[in-house]
Amino acid sequence: MLQKIYIRHIPQMIDQHVELAGWVCRVRGSGKVSFIQFRDGTGFVQVVAGIQDVSVEDFESIRHLTQESAIRVSGKVIASEHSPIGVEILANHIEVVHKTEDYPITPKEHGTDFLMDRRHLWIRSARQQAILTIRHQIVTAIRHYFDDSDFTLVDAPIFTANECEGSSTLFATKYFEENAYLSQSGQLYMEAACEAVGRAYCFGPTFRAENSNTRRHLTEFWMVEPEVAYMDLDGDIELAEGLVQAIVRRVLERCKNELQTLERDTKPLEAVIKGSFPKISYTEAVQIIQDSGSPFKWGDDFGGADETIISGKFERPVVVYGYPTEIKPFYMKKDPENPKVVRNMDILAPEGYGEIIGGGQREESLDVLEASLRAQGLAPAIYSWYLDIRRYGSVPHAGFGLGVERSVAWICGLPHVRETGAFPRLPNRLRP
Ligand code: 4AD
Ligand code: MG
Repeated sequence: MLQKIYIRHIPQMIDQHVELAGWVCRVRGSGKVSFIQFRDGTGFVQVVAGIQDVSVEDFESIRHLTQESAIRVSGKVIASEHSPIGVEILANHIEVVHKTEDYPITPKEHGTDFLMDRRHLWIRSARQQAILTIRHQIVTAIRHYFDDSDFTLVDAPIFTANECEGSSTLFATKYFEENAYLSQSGQLYMEAACEAVGRAYCFGPTFRAENSNTRRHLTEFWMVEPEVAYMDLDGDIELAEGLVQAIVRRVLERCKNELQTLERDTKPLEAVIKGSFPKISYTEAVQIIQDSGSPFKWGDDFGGADETIISGKFERPVVVYGYPTEIKPFYMKKDPENPKVVRNMDILAPEGYGEIIGGGQREESLDVLEASLRAQGLAPAIYSWYLDIRRYGSVPHAGFGLGVERSVAWICGLPHVRETGAFPRLPNRLRP
């Protein structure tokens, strides 16, 4: 048994006979005709079953179909002006595969906690399917972007012995007799990989024990991390800008229906691909925040609210470069002209979404890097393998990480990252 025809294909199959398999969203009707709102995972379509067109038994069982019952539908594809996909199905046979009783998610309004507890069922809704589809297209755009520009996918490990992004957000785990951590970032491994393959990227889950219940933080999220040998900060910014535009372009091209389901205004997204991104220094960003009346001081790190103020000034994503050395990880390259700042960059998404990308040029000098490790209380001995990259053929190199969930939240226009993946992990949510 292999289902070959899906709702996605039927707009091109007018007048043909098809067999579909899926689930019932809703049934309404009269004594003469029933209308089934039907979905199969690739789309939604109305199935019309007239008393003349199906058997007496079928007509009776259709009238008693319940929400989320599983059914097979045989019928003819007919053109329909009222249908969002331009067609509906005129049924001649319905087989009930499984009759559902008391589906817990009804068309009435439910609270977020109620829905999150039933996430395994909630993902069947039209809105959640639109988000999952857009996420899929974002992931595909990312893979194509790197695969088409000479990158080699190099998978980074999840079990790690070193921290990358600060000890305060590490998830510790036992690794036989040793202590290990779940990876916060594949970057250190990609730095090694780029000196092997030139242009490397990893793409997978990363973990942060950030016990902050904000609309931007997950404890497990997907990140794509390119790293390129012989690339400086300017090259890094160019690579990142190209990626963000490739993602937005693909979603605009392929997800029109989904964006409509989400009632996403696409004008701000269209602006993203119409020109290059504004670039401002950290110091200029501080000025913007201070001008808004905030007591923010040079040297502070941006919080979500600060990023909202900065990104609110621009129509396209804004690149902010040159953050204070003091607030950044050990691996960042100090600006040779002003060692108080590093050669890093963040990209902040517009419409108040804030940081979606963090990255920059890495320190390539062994001595400077060892001193930075010590200054941050990290023992160079533990990073011995990583320091080898600077011992043998060290070159300028740079990279960045783009968070998938933050990108999905922005592109879909969602108020919170909890709906950006099927089974999100948040400080207070490990189930389902
Ligand atoms: O800025 P971050 O911490 O940078 C790094 O991890 C670098 N090592 C990446 C690199 O240069 N290879 O994280 C990068 C991105 C952020 O911009 C954000 O999109 C996402 O990862 N991110 C999170 N997304 C959801 N929940 C969290 N708790 C996140 N923390 C970071
Ligand atoms: Mg960051």
